[in-house]
Amino acid sequence: MSRYHDAYRFSIKDPEAFWLEQAKRIPWFRAPTRALDYDAEGHARWFGDGELNICHAALDHHVAQGRGEQIAIYWDSPVTADRRRLSYREMRDQVARCAGALRDLGIVPGDRVVIYMPMVPEALIAMYACARLGAIHSVVFGGFAPRELAARIEDAAPRVVITASCGVEIDRIVAYPPMLREAIERSAHKPEACLIVQREHQRDACQRGEHDWHSALAAATPAECVPVRATDPLYVLYTSGTTGRPKGVVRDTGGYAVALHYSMEAIYDTAPGEVFFSASDVGWVVGHSYIVYAPLLRGATSVVYEGKPVRTPDAGAFWRLIDDYQVKCFFTAPTAFRAVKKADPEARLLAEHNIRSLRALFLAGERLDPPTYHWLKAHLSVPVVDHWWQTETGWPIAADPLGLSPMPTRAGSATVPVPGYAVRILDRHGEEVGPLTQGSVVIKQPLPPGCLVGIWGDPQRMREAYMSTYPGYYTTGDSGYFDEDGYLFVMGRTDDVINVAGHRLSTGEMEEVLGAHPAVAECAVIGMQDALKGQLPMGLVIPKDGFDGDEAALEQELVALVRERIGPVACLKQVLVVDRLPKTRSGKILRKALRHIADGEPFDVPATIDDPTSLDDARAAMGRARPGADS
Ligand code: COA
Ligand code: AMP
Repeated sequence: MSRYHDAYRFSIKDPEAFWLEQAKRIPWFRAPTRALDYDAEGHARWFGDGELNICHAALDHHVAQGRGEQIAIYWDSPVTADRRRLSYREMRDQVARCAGALRDLGIVPGDRVVIYMPMVPEALIAMYACARLGAIHSVVFGGFAPRELAARIEDAAPRVVITASCGVEIDRIVAYPPMLREAIERSAHKPEACLIVQREHQRDACQRGEHDWHSALAAATPAECVPVRATDPLYVLYTSGTTGRPKGVVRDTGGYAVALHYSMEAIYDTAPGEVFFSASDVGWVVGHSYIVYAPLLRGATSVVYEGKPVRTPDAGAFWRLIDDYQVKCFFTAPTAFRAVKKADPEARLLAEHNIRSLRALFLAGERLDPPTYHWLKAHLSVPVVDHWWQTETGWPIAADPLGLSPMPTRAGSATVPVPGYAVRILDRHGEEVGPLTQGSVVIKQPLPPGCLVGIWGDPQRMREAYMSTYPGYYTTGDSGYFDEDGYLFVMGRTDDVINVAGHRLSTGEMEEVLGAHPAVAECAVIGMQDALKGQLPMGLVIPKDGFDGDEAALEQELVALVRERIGPVACLKQVLVVDRLPKTRSGKILRKALRHIADGEPFDVPATIDDPTSLDDARAAMGRARPGADS
């Protein structure tokens, strides 16, 4: 039996003993004596009597252990031609000052702080400062529009919001404060204060209730770490569901810290002092877990990157970063490498850099498509690991456990379930299916530490959204199968969530925007396959009877509306006016049929459509044949 198999069996047979053992690997103010309890809703709560502070475990503890001069973060920003490095001691000191400034603004344990920032070191400092005080942060991705930010402010009800004067995209400067002001205007909840980090590319004059970050930190007295219970929330992170109402995933503190630390050893095989680079954004779960918290909990160094994989200045950006910072473990989304592959198909730029430090490449956020997997395998001599997880779980569900026993990877597979996760495949009756049969991928309860503990402000919603379809199991929303050797293949969502450039988006939310337009009678948004971004949303709309405007103008107006309401991240660039949509007899839009049409697959469709096998057929069947139009 391999180390992996031993660990896996132990974790499933006796999860309490397994996780109490792992809990010893992080510093506590009061070590837990109990592993697992259940809350009133029946959800697992880990390390109930433990007390810690994750900021202490990730920063102060390492300074005390002699890592003060080691680099905690390398910040690299080709879009601003700037770089910075912060040692553990510098990071701890700035976080303590920021926590002092937040305390001066009245923040106490349990208060919420919304963070709406680009990829700058201050975003990490702000997150750790909240943790230091026992406050709950909620980071909102910068690509979301003011309305989306407003919805999150209203739900999280923060006392303070932290932002920066601007973000720098490749082709434009994004001014955050005006968007924040608009969001606050729209929100019924009004934060008491805002802190603004001024960036020289575009400064912003603070208005009433707004404070300059640098002056506030300079005036503050550093704050110490506040002990919190392991079960206290560390953050709320909003993610897309099947409706337009975003779900605030609540993460606890102790279970998360233990799980992340475990993953750095068992999965990513990263030791203290080594360099870990995750090319994501602090606004996503990958950023929370593997830019901000896990590398520093492990005493490693995290690379924080403000830029894209290509065009900054070229498609060799990742190779350059690995070379410059001696990265050992690199993690990004497959879409990023599809962009690199497109720009540099022969990987010629790789030869310009020395990437011998690299020991493993991890990919997640969407399925690693076999062509990209094979391209990476052909050009790199390190394990290329597709691993699968989601915002809700906070850390990988299935992976190649490089730190336990590396396994041969297989194209299209996320390898094996990680210790702690009892992954099963169920059919629609809730029966477990055998190898090579596709079904719903579920996790037998209890969920391991680190996974969501609730939905913010809505205790019932966790049960309804995840626990009620198959009692005793957490429903991941993905479908997939095991092969005969126990390798897991995750094939796609069973709901209306789509994955665009590794970003999770709700088609339901886009439909709400399209459907609210006065000229639209009915609509559907589907995910179309896209060679670069994996999926791209496309809207299909039926105008109201009597609509006699210009259809092309309506389509463009609807595209602009989604960008304005949800934000550029929605990437909805195509809307098509149609005469009808495939429906069931009871009048429900057949989304499954639309999805199959979008994927170009044959599908048993209802009478309104005659065996369409391509989008053009579907368009024709839906009443608008436009050969050659934007497919
Ligand atoms: N603030 C403001 N706008 C933002 C933004 C931010 N933080 N992030 C993205 N946007 C904008 C982009 O500028 C773009 O606007 P445009 O329509 O005017 O061009 C739009 O949102 C869509 O962004 P994106 O989907 O990222 O497209 P892209 O063409 O800029 O880049 C990739 C495509 C594949 C290179 C990029 O998405 C990528 O590197 N993704 C992989 C890494 C990742 O983030 N994974 C997430 C989870 S692991
Ligand atoms: P997010 O919550 O944004 O991390 O998105 C999670 C969803 O992305 C999952 O439920 C999957 O649908 C998809 N996903 C993430 N990683 C993978 C992967 N390695 N293979 C297949 N799908 C993935």
